[in-house]
Amino acid sequence: MAERLDLAGKHIVLGLSGGVACYKAAELTRALVKAGATVQVVMTEAAEAFITAVTMQALSNRPVYTSQWDARPGNNMAHINLTREADAVLIAPASADFIAKLVQGRADDLLSLLCLARPAERVPLLVAPAMNREMWAHPAAQRNVAQLRADGALVLGPAAGDQACGEIGDGRMLEAEELRDELIASFQPKLLAGKKLLITAGPTFEAIDPVRGITNHSSGKMGFAIARAAQEAGAEVTLIAGPVHLPTPPHVHRIDVQSAQQMLDAVLPQAPLHDVFVATAAVADWRPAVMNEHKIKKDGKKLAPSFELTENPDILAAVARLPDKPWCVGFAAESQDLLTHAREKLLRKNVPLIVGNLGPATFGRDDNTLVLVDATGHRELPAGDKLTLARELVAEIARRTAGA
Ligand code: C5P
Repeated sequence: MAERLDLAGKHIVLGLSGGVACYKAAELTRALVKAGATVQVVMTEAAEAFITAVTMQALSNRPVYTSQWDARPGNNMAHINLTREADAVLIAPASADFIAKLVQGRADDLLSLLCLARPAERVPLLVAPAMNREMWAHPAAQRNVAQLRADGALVLGPAAGDQACGEIGDGRMLEAEELRDELIASFQPKLLAGKKLLITAGPTFEAIDPVRGITNHSSGKMGFAIARAAQEAGAEVTLIAGPVHLPTPPHVHRIDVQSAQQMLDAVLPQAPLHDVFVATAAVADWRPAVMNEHKIKKDGKKLAPSFELTENPDILAAVARLPDKPWCVGFAAESQDLLTHAREKLLRKNVPLIVGNLGPATFGRDDNTLVLVDATGHRELPAGDKLTLARELVAEIARRTAGA
């Protein structure tokens, strides 16, 4: 897939305070630059004990600022100039000490000074804590982080896992790519704030015996992209996934299932709790009428086994029949006559919107073309990668459900 330029035109002040996680800030700088951002690195004295300004300058392609007494700016006011140009200030790593400074509004070094001096309504502050688990769990640190959030900062992570000190627990800084994606998400318009979305994705697997089954080529990528886009747009997202090899998008609640029946059983209790249901899953239409308890063996006479199929429940239609149903979006993956089939599904499933795509052309790929079909007509979304299309679809869902 071509590199996505989700941060094109964005200028990020990346602040480093002291901590072993400074090594991740080098990767983060590369990731932000690759996503199209310009990055201005600012380091505290403690950060310079962990990584050099030389490295950070080379990666960001800009001289690093480390001191409020830096005489390079004509007006000698680095803290003002740097924040007036910025689209966001991201502190990664944010040490316990630096967070405490932010909370107190102290400003005795360039980084804390510029955080205080930034125009808060226009330049968001994102903070990625990194510290030992005992430090993170300490009431003082928790109190400070709560206050930081109350003051409007977005706190990213921390994650749990191995720590530099050898202990295991909460306090690890998020990885570079996770921080990049959190930053990208923070810039997306919150079109679905306060809404709850339920999404099905991927294929289903209908067991024939303990080792074989009926499935299809759906990769789940479109449904996972919609889950990510909806979460970025501020929605609370539940994703019910068939067997796929994809990481869960951040902050998305995922439920894994195998068969259509399991998918139905997972969806039905969730559906009334959500505002919107998006059925992207390629649910197998049929399943073997009986599941053989043991592996079917060759009989030595070259006779292939035959087995009966029975129809699977239609999950989307079942949701659309609920008295307290969410607003439903169906998908149509066809190999021909897309519009005719999409219109037919709109009526048969009784849903307000069907999104059509050509199955064989998109399964497993990163790009797609979508056509939106409703009772009044259709509109094609130009070909694009699945995340771009997912963001457009999310905007469309937000428009159609506004005020609902
Ligand atoms: O019935 P058909 O497969 O043509 O319709 C596709 C749409 O219906 C998709 O949104 C798919 O997720 C959903 N579907 C379903 N349960 C099925 C079959 C399809 O939810 N058993």
